Amino acid sequence: MLNFNYSIPTEIFFGQDQIKVLAAQIRKYGSRVLLVYGGGSIKKAGLYAETTAILEANNLPFRELSGVDPNPRIASVRRGIEVCRQENLDFILAIGGGSVIDCAKMVAAGFYYGSDPWDLVRGSARVKKALPVGTILTLAATGSEMDPIAVISNPETQEKIGVGHPSMAPKFSILDPTYTFTVPPSQTAAGTADIMSHVFESYFSKTRSAFLQSRLAEAILKTCIHYGPLALAKPDNYEARANLMWASSLAINGLLSYGKERKWSVHAIEHELSAFYDITHGVGLAILTPHWMEYILSPTTVDAFREYGVNVWNLDPKADPFATARAAIAQTRAFFVSLGLPTTLREVGVPEDKLRMMAERATKSSTLGEFRPIDTEDVRQILKASL
Ligand code: NZQ
Ligand code: ZN
Repeated sequence: MLNFNYSIPTEIFFGQDQIKVLAAQIRKYGSRVLLVYGGGSIKKAGLYAETTAILEANNLPFRELSGVDPNPRIASVRRGIEVCRQENLDFILAIGGGSVIDCAKMVAAGFYYGSDPWDLVRGSARVKKALPVGTILTLAATGSEMDPIAVISNPETQEKIGVGHPSMAPKFSILDPTYTFTVPPSQTAAGTADIMSHVFESYFSKTRSAFLQSRLAEAILKTCIHYGPLALAKPDNYEARANLMWASSLAINGLLSYGKERKWSVHAIEHELSAFYDITHGVGLAILTPHWMEYILSPTTVDAFREYGVNVWNLDPKADPFATARAAIAQTRAFFVSLGLPTTLREVGVPEDKLRMMAERATKSSTLGEFRPIDTEDVRQILKASL
């Protein structure tokens, strides 16, 4: 196991009616609030009315940044920063899924930066500090509620880039599973695939000695496999929504990757797909993941896939390792299909013409992954197989 520093600073309030802590939590960090939300799902669900009533009753003045798109745009970030400056706001409350939370985090970081926040996203300037952010999560998927990362899109340059800084981690997150009862089946499925992909990114690692982290990872995968279909069949099943929600946070908050190399691969490829074609993140991951697994399966990696097959899919430990590895990959694909997720890029409107460009962009600073590093040509092959 490699050395690591354990630091997961976000305070979590998990369970039904935890919104009761909202006003007291905000007061610990600020008094004038920017309320960030998306396209209106929180209004339909009644969460907007509930939250604003709490803010009003507690004399917490607020302004709004609404209409944050899935794959959040830098334009929303710019707008949010402007409102915070004009209105002297000192706290940001995000209510939504990963897109809303990421946008809120980037507004928080951009507030302290004197020029265009896109500089911070593309890395030509560094985040130094951020306004405090709190979140009310409405979709189990990205883990943004408990990590310091924001992923922001720029349609003008067709880029989608992740940026992180410790100051961007939410101060607190309210995780009430009942808020996810209204998530539509397509997003429930995509969210489940996203959680599993976060696990895969650190589970399949060259560091084979972090036994504990690998067993935790398998537990989260099994949770998704067990509860994803249940949440689809019965959207208001509290147990299913609660387990998926906590899996979402634990999959990416550091717990699984501590003590291992940290270099992801499938996410970098998916971000190019979202940047060019604005597809749903979890859908892109579900299409790419089985192809990535097949592509990197080799005598060097087979043991890890065999272990995955035995421990997660209950495959025969005595069977031929390659047969078990292939069966595990097939099970992964079949599971995504069972959730109703697409299996090909063509189904989501991705043609063949930009595969090379996307592969070049995904690998422009280095190869991807450390388990089996992949270069531009490898990525092009994986994209081609995914068509
Ligand atoms: O915009 P609204 O009306 O809220 O509707 C949203 C949106 O249309 C809807 N939704 C959310 N909660 C709902 C709901 N609909 C009904 N009931 C509810 N309770 O779902 C749609 C998708 O929302 P979005 O926030 O885009 O989904 P998700 O949470 O999957 O976030 C995806 C974004 O996060 C990034 C992705 O790249 C993508 O941009 N990621 C962020 C990460 C991070 N910060 O650590 C890591 C991830 O790997 C990922 O890259
Ligand atoms: Zn993801």
